[in-house]
Amino acid sequence: MNIKKVGIVGCGIMGSGITQVVAHSGYSVTVFDINEAALKTGLESIRFRLQKSVDKGKLSIEKRESILAGIRGTTDISDFGNCDFVIEAVFDNLEIKRKVFSELDNICPKHAILASNASSLSIIDIAAATKRMDKVLGMHFFNPVPVMKLVEVVKTIATSEETVEISKEFGEKLGKTVVIAPDMPGYIHNRLTAVLSIAAIKMLEDKIAGRDDIDTALKLGSNLPMGRLELLDMVGLDTLLEGYENLYQTYKDPKYAPPLLLKQMVAAGWLGRKSGRGFYIYDKNGNKIG
Ligand code: CAA
Repeated sequence: MNIKKVGIVGCGIMGSGITQVVAHSGYSVTVFDINEAALKTGLESIRFRLQKSVDKGKLSIEKRESILAGIRGTTDISDFGNCDFVIEAVFDNLEIKRKVFSELDNICPKHAILASNASSLSIIDIAAATKRMDKVLGMHFFNPVPVMKLVEVVKTIATSEETVEISKEFGEKLGKTVVIAPDMPGYIHNRLTAVLSIAAIKMLEDKIAGRDDIDTALKLGSNLPMGRLELLDMVGLDTLLEGYENLYQTYKDPKYAPPLLLKQMVAAGWLGRKSGRGFYIYDKNGNKIG
């Protein structure tokens, strides 16, 4: 299949990042969000990031303009009627995703592949909301999408080999390295890293070590770009809690049980960088100030 038009559902942190990367690779992109304000915020974040690259001399003004010209924002999902490939990047909640996929199934052309950027849910539960399960799969990107090289392509028991091949090739055209992951909550990456993240939160909760020492130990001891707690703030504590709950419910393994501290922080609205407070405190531009 020759993919020309790509649709992205959701223009939040992940959706806007995916939109940027897809447009950068020369595809025409339509990005949907439910309201104008959310769409505007997402599109502005793309403009902001592209401008930063121009300022650093890493992107030409012409390329920036061609990327922006390739992106069309909409609040009307029926605009996906001519898309060849759609990536859904809404909140990781099964009911919401099933509703989106059912709508996409009615709107998109018969040949279109529908991918979910779910980070912990079973893709077959989402695919079953459509009448084209062979053309549904997971395409799990990592945050920040323009920087992170990995995409997990998640094949369900119903996904056809052809769909997997087209999606793998598409991921590679976006400049990503693709791994084929099992349709089991957490796939490969998050299933492994959840254990480490939960252990880091528990170490803080049990006052075994302080926040900065936990982060410095992991960052410098494993040569990572940032500390684990800092990373959790960047991903979003509500997103993580939803993911851990799902892993725990599925595997019934105590190593995935979400720590009480995480639940309390989410209840308090301390969702990480996006809300100004998580394990760290941030200014309105997302810079760490405490
Ligand atoms: N969007 C786009 N680009 C960004 C960015 C963003 N939000 N944040 C940083 N960048 C870019 C910068 O523009 C810069 O690009 P150039 O090298 O071209 O100039 C580059 O990344 C480095 O940025 P900085 O110098 O500002 O900062 P840094 O060196 O501290 O890097 C970081 C910041 C890229 C976030 C780095 O700390 C990092 O890679 N952290 C780990 C991220 C990670 O592990 N992500 C996985 C999360 S798990 C997940 O996503 C799965 C899930 O299901 C939730």
